[in-house]
Amino acid sequence: MAPTDHSSSQQRLGQISSHLHPMSVSVFENVPQAPPDVIFSLTAQYKEDTHPQKINVGVGAFRTDELKPYVLPVVKKADAILFNDGSLDHEYLPIAGTASYTQAASKLILGADSPAIKEGRVAAVQTISGTGANHTGAAFLAQYYKKSPKCYISKPTWANHRNIFASVGFEVEEYPYWDANTRGLAYEQMLQTMRDAPNGSIFILHACAHNPTGVDPTQDQWKGIAQVMAQKGHFPFFDCAYQGFASGDLDRDAWAVRYFVEQGFELFVAQSFAKNFGLYGERAGNLTLVCKSPADTQRVLSQIEKLQRSEISNPPAYGSRIVNIVLNDAALYAEWKENLKYMSNRIIGMRKDLKDRLVQLGTPGTWDHITDQIGMFSFTGLKASQVKVLKEKYHIYMTDNGRVSMAGLSSGNIDYFAKAVDDVVRNVQ
Ligand code: LMR
Repeated sequence: MAPTDHSSSQQRLGQISSHLHPMSVSVFENVPQAPPDVIFSLTAQYKEDTHPQKINVGVGAFRTDELKPYVLPVVKKADAILFNDGSLDHEYLPIAGTASYTQAASKLILGADSPAIKEGRVAAVQTISGTGANHTGAAFLAQYYKKSPKCYISKPTWANHRNIFASVGFEVEEYPYWDANTRGLAYEQMLQTMRDAPNGSIFILHACAHNPTGVDPTQDQWKGIAQVMAQKGHFPFFDCAYQGFASGDLDRDAWAVRYFVEQGFELFVAQSFAKNFGLYGERAGNLTLVCKSPADTQRVLSQIEKLQRSEISNPPAYGSRIVNIVLNDAALYAEWKENLKYMSNRIIGMRKDLKDRLVQLGTPGTWDHITDQIGMFSFTGLKASQVKVLKEKYHIYMTDNGRVSMAGLSSGNIDYFAKAVDDVVRNVQ
């Protein structure tokens, strides 16, 4: 074959392959860019900001009055116990996690004398913090819960609920929760949505310290919610990320979950020990299942273990070891409660200080909601336009919905913060 013939046939081949070569175009070319996470991107922006008076009231993470992360003294003690434990190794945990940990976690939320525990209708799996507990529960329900394809999250809710439930295939709807006029619970509208929802829908309920509003139903309102949910056969999926933070009292903050169990509901509870143990990055969580009978519970557990094996194989050990030590030792448990009181009192103190300052400044509007709300967050009522100016002019970082993580405030920055809020309330529409 003449050289020219050879090269022209190669050229032709090259032309064809540039159209057809399987590796010339990415198999991911149609993947759309996802928006940045609203909470974690704020922290990244805050870290890059060099302004000396910058404030981060975005992420829900406790800080001391010096605005330092807080390692709970009881966690330090448990750490020392672990460090000095010569028998400790780095073997795998069981798929469902350490039994003494999951049992203690379930007991913490359901109560030591829970009838469901006594009747053997409770099981649990150790999860990657609260997000993992939500996800594992959602993934199981997506596969085995056939009563309704719909799951309802509160409006507004924690930024990750929709992601988690949509990603496993649920049709995610919202139930009204926040009434902007009363700055309180949209109770009647919430109940109406529950009545209108298809029977057997899944409702994600915040057990206490609702994120982002800081508004919880009263006990009477919880009773009304339980009544409608029972009539409609809805499935309660509690998310409990703040037990001990809402009121400073672990039992009071678990009241709603325990009431639903007493009423005979089958339910799931996602628990996180990120906030109440300050173990954010250690990802210690738990998914508690309450079913009708011990046999139902064991079958559900077996499927969740199968899921867990496929997703994470078995959970991480360190954070759960800390929690396990504290929850199973009477003296350390009592000390943990004191540490919790310190954290919740600091937040309650900041609420009062902020409200007092806004009242002193004569900032237009009413500010009682700041002290009425509970938990880590205050839902201030600030508009997105005002939040934008707070960031650009004052270097104050919060989510667009006006949620303020109260732990980001301190005796050192509260005046600056209150004056900035006063300015935008007066001058930004
Ligand atoms: C928050 O709401 O700020 C925290 O729960 C952190 C998170 O995971 O979103």
